[in-house]
Amino acid sequence: MLDIKITRTDSPKEKPQGPLGFGKIFTDHMFMMNYTEGQGWHDPRIVPFQDLTLSPACVVFHYGQEMFEGLKAYRGEDGKSYLFRPDMNGKRTNKSNERLCIPQLPVEDFVQAVKAIVKVDEDWIPSDPGTSLYIRPFIIGTDAFLGVAPSQTYLFMIILSPSGAYYSSGLEPVGIWIEDDYVRAVRGGMGFAKTGGNYACSLAAQVKAHDDGYSQVLWLDGVERKYIEEVGAMNIFFKIDGKIVTPMLNGSILPGITRDSVLHLCRAWGLPTEERRISVDELLEAQKGGKLEEVFGTGTAAVISPVGKLRYQDEVMTIGDGSIGPVSQKLYDTVTGIQLGKLEDPFGWRVAID
Ligand code: PLP
Ligand code: COI
Repeated sequence: MLDIKITRTDSPKEKPQGPLGFGKIFTDHMFMMNYTEGQGWHDPRIVPFQDLTLSPACVVFHYGQEMFEGLKAYRGEDGKSYLFRPDMNGKRTNKSNERLCIPQLPVEDFVQAVKAIVKVDEDWIPSDPGTSLYIRPFIIGTDAFLGVAPSQTYLFMIILSPSGAYYSSGLEPVGIWIEDDYVRAVRGGMGFAKTGGNYACSLAAQVKAHDDGYSQVLWLDGVERKYIEEVGAMNIFFKIDGKIVTPMLNGSILPGITRDSVLHLCRAWGLPTEERRISVDELLEAQKGGKLEEVFGTGTAAVISPVGKLRYQDEVMTIGDGSIGPVSQKLYDTVTGIQLGKLEDPFGWRVAID
């Protein structure tokens, strides 16, 4: 159990009015905790949101030793505040940490810290439809040393951002660019970890896709550039001939918490699901045969995000009739319904902040 010291701001900010966008506004406070080799994690504290002072020689600036997480707090129908499966983010933190030689952080401490900072800034949780408080925990290596070695000191922080939809188009289907030149990750690399390097690596392709009018990039495997992996900020699902199909977790994609939740829900509804390799050729063939029925991405920020168009080289696959498909819609309604406390929570995913 962490003994968290709380220092409240004496100049609270105005709450935002109007559309929030994603990740642009920050609340009044943040959580911080240090790690020092030999001492472990220490000094958990909540302080006013502020800039950091760090040595320009910090490991994180040069070699990217860092990890981050993403989850949300929701304003429930009953006015209470809820989290969604925060223990899963805590467990994934430790998988990322292990890969990046960052010390382990007890899952219960992670969840306690998230609950504590959300509680302090609880009145920042927005309540308009489609809004929530995006929670960004992250850890950075802070040793001031230019040799390439794991840091001996770290900073764990949590910042909060009241946010709306990740895509400005909301539930309108997005266009996705299947990238066949750049790759994001290979097996044995760090694709499964949530770490800045994976996102830095994705930017060049994302810029290319944006320039062509596509919202995000769909990555192919790093070896054959043939099998579907995931999207820049989401896992990907296909409904092919009545089956819900998604790439298996192979070490190079992020094990998404929304992905896991969607698989649980589809199985509970009796829909056939498959986690396996999916080639682009299979998608092209399914689309030509009229069997590519729905495509959607899943993610904390993106929730369930319908895909209306997939571009691969000079082929453009149009999915459905330009509106959200029935399974994608049902998943969106169910996932958000559970998160907001509108629906039963049969799997015990909702966690109240009290
Ligand atoms: N894949 C990538 C690369 C992501 O950045 C995200 C977002 O977190 C996801 C998948 C979806 O993961 P989750 O559902 O846990 O948010
Ligand atoms: C999330 O969905 O939590 C993400 O981290 C996506 C992103 C904004 C990188």
